[in-house]
Amino acid sequence: MERSHVPVLPAEIVEFLKPDTTNAGPVVDCTLGEGGHSALLLEHAPDSRLIGVDADATMIERARHFLGPRASQVEFVCAWYDDFWLSYTGARPHRILFDLGISTFHLAGSGRGFTFREDEPLDMRLSDSVMSAAELLSGISQEDLADIIYVFGEERYSRRIAAAIVRVRSAGGLRTTGDLVETVTSAVPAAYRRGRINPATRTFQALRIAVNAELERLRTALPRALAALSPDHGRMAVITFHSLEDRLVKWAFRAASGDESAVGRSAVTAKHSTASKFAPKLIDTVAMPEGERITILTRRPVVPSYEEVAGNPASRSAKLRVVEKTRIEESW
Ligand SMILES: C[S@@+](CC[C@H](N)C(=O)[O-])C[C@H]1O[C@@H](n2cnc3c(N)ncnc32)[C@H](O)[C@@H]1O
Repeated sequence: MERSHVPVLPAEIVEFLKPDTTNAGPVVDCTLGEGGHSALLLEHAPDSRLIGVDADATMIERARHFLGPRASQVEFVCAWYDDFWLSYTGARPHRILFDLGISTFHLAGSGRGFTFREDEPLDMRLSDSVMSAAELLSGISQEDLADIIYVFGEERYSRRIAAAIVRVRSAGGLRTTGDLVETVTSAVPAAYRRGRINPATRTFQALRIAVNAELERLRTALPRALAALSPDHGRMAVITFHSLEDRLVKWAFRAASGDESAVGRSAVTAKHSTASKFAPKLIDTVAMPEGERITILTRRPVVPSYEEVAGNPASRSAKLRVVEKTRIEESW
């Protein structure tokens, strides 16, 4: 088995999340993947205990393999991270990491239709507990499909693309990712076809987000994780890869830190998408256990260096935000 994924912002994750050996709480890696970040954190704190969560059973097995002897320090949990936090009753974690999206393995080696580069089944699921892209595409209305492509993909030709998909679907011609790429390509203007990115990139992103309910899960999980975090200098970091995710995280952190300008922003989302039923509501209040306070450690998101992007192009859109939780001292 060969490692496919290069962890992004590795030095920054170690700097912010290096386990504190005096805190007995576990580290929770909510998006274990191949365990790259977890391995780095365990290297810096060989006695720490880590809970590694991933919705994808294949990733759990890959992480177990790549962690080698360190796997004995890890409790592996195959679950969606929002479900994990709903049922979590263990010790309060002192480090929490979310590294959102999918791993390089999903694109390059899973055969599940995440990439427009291969002709694969229209699947796109991280776990078979959800509907596949083929099932989603077979029943959805043209209007809802256009909305999904517009909101989750930020794709300006969403309406044309949705119309073309519905046309090809009715003729029985939409079976694989190759069919989808061809349909999208034929629907967009010629200049767009010659653009910097493959014209199907945004449609693929949108469908993957919809299939796995990525934004809704993040919206549910963030407040739960923030509440669970240890008040004794517990830290939580989130790495996002597109603007909708980053806005959710930014406002959840602001709301948790007591920033009143977060309140009432629940209807405001990425540009132009407020009217859609798929537009994710921002998190404007986070219930914090009494006597605990969240401080934002990254006033602006931390982004990869030029060198990191040159060596790992997949990191180019990464943004890291980190918070710390402390106790509010009583003053007499
Ligand atoms: C970017 S990769 C993480 C890579 C990891 N940090 C590493 O260094 O190998 C994201 C992982 O999170 C998982 N994932 C995505 N959304 C999830 C969710 N809502 N719940 C649980 N796991 C999720 C994916 O299956 C994928 O393995």
